[in-house]
Amino acid sequence: MSFSGRFPLLLKKEPAMSSKNRPLVVGNWKMNGSRAALGELVAMGKGFDGALRSKIDLVLCPPMTHVALAAQAAVGTGISIGAQNCHAKVSGAHTGDVSAEMLADIGATAVMVGHSERRTDYKEKDADVRAKAEAAQRAGLMAVLCLGETKAEREAGKALSVVRRQLKDSVPANMPAHQLVIGYEPVWAIGTGLVPTAKDVEEVHALIRGDLKRLLGKEEGSKVRILYGGSVKPSNAAELLAVDNVDGLLVGGASLKAEDFLTIAGFYR
Ligand code: PGA
Repeated sequence: MSFSGRFPLLLKKEPAMSSKNRPLVVGNWKMNGSRAALGELVAMGKGFDGALRSKIDLVLCPPMTHVALAAQAAVGTGISIGAQNCHAKVSGAHTGDVSAEMLADIGATAVMVGHSERRTDYKEKDADVRAKAEAAQRAGLMAVLCLGETKAEREAGKALSVVRRQLKDSVPANMPAHQLVIGYEPVWAIGTGLVPTAKDVEEVHALIRGDLKRLLGKEEGSKVRILYGGSVKPSNAAELLAVDNVDGLLVGGASLKAEDFLTIAGFYR
């Protein structure tokens, strides 16, 4: 299930050619990090130089407790800060929750919704994910909407139908392209070191692109950035970002260290 060096070096020469949308690399720190770890963000900011900034967007999503600190630390670096979740409502009796408006208030410009770990741990359904994406839109944030099939679903030949259902049921009908990013993350590839073949990634991303055009209209649908996520590493990033309709990458573990994250983003130079 891995690339195993199948793709020739020529893809590395012109990775951005595979996408007409401005590339985006998102880092998801999950429940990792500390105040001290924000030093990695500072290092990322130093490495995100003018040349790279002119080519790609970079977003880092630390844990909720560190979003405000990260937003302050990121000022002037060109890196945008996002959260990993939000509540669908603006405010109210929802102990422990945080609204999209609150995130915007502390300097976040993006929020992940529908990550598979939230779908699993908190039983979030497509309708919940859609409500959170609507909240992001309402608050002026960019929603990074995650979806992807489980191992059992892929093995049963249901990967494409699952992804299509998640997309149809979780993308708000009037979502503008600049506020929507789709993160295709096969659940079996997250944190496992397993990566789908380029052919499989291409197949799913093409399908997502087609469905986005049907859902949002041809123009908006073609402008939504579609990221691949799941065991992205410096060693496989170039091959992944060369795949058609891969507008960028969603990086978990490898986003914790500035060196790895910058290496991955640096393939867009
Ligand atoms: P991973 O996580 O890169 O550590 O596999 C990706 C994600 O869950 O967003």
